[in-house]
Amino acid sequence: MALKSLEDALVDELQDLLSAETQLTQALPKLAEKATHPELKAAFQEHLEQTKGHVERLNQAFKLLGKSPESKTCEAMKGLIKEGQSVMEEDAAPNVMDAFLIAAAQKVEHYEIASYGTVCTWAETIGNEELADLLGETLDEEEETDDKLTELAEDVINEEAA
Ligand SMILES: [Fe+2]
Ligand SMILES: [Fe+2]
Repeated sequence: MALKSLEDALVDELQDLLSAETQLTQALPKLAEKATHPELKAAFQEHLEQTKGHVERLNQAFKLLGKSPESKTCEAMKGLIKEGQSVMEEDAAPNVMDAFLIAAAQKVEHYEIASYGTVCTWAETIGNEELADLLGETLDEEEETDDKLTELAEDVINEEAA
């Protein structure tokens, strides 16, 4: 049995997240480029910068656990990005495309929120408050991004696309 403790499971999940975040640093510039609405473009660019910070925090997280950072291909993120890419190939009006891009990005954020929620809880369970706080900072940013995308969708883009 390779994964004996919750800490082993936590390391495993962090490896998945490191892969997911690294994939996103490559996907977000494409979303920003494809977006038309200036606020949406800016939101993607801002989240790209935050995502680079998420990679840094994960590297720190491994350090706190006395491990060297390793990533294990996150197949879920690969799939979400692939879906996003096929959406980008659709022949859609700019506002409709923006609505599609928001939908794709929110699926990604929800995946990240679920994953960071899990690792935060596990870090608390093993009594590593510093790690829980560190991962909690990223969780907050993912939630803020999700909220911002909802606002953009509701206030501007869906209205214009309809
Ligand atoms: Fe992230
Ligand atoms: Fe994110």
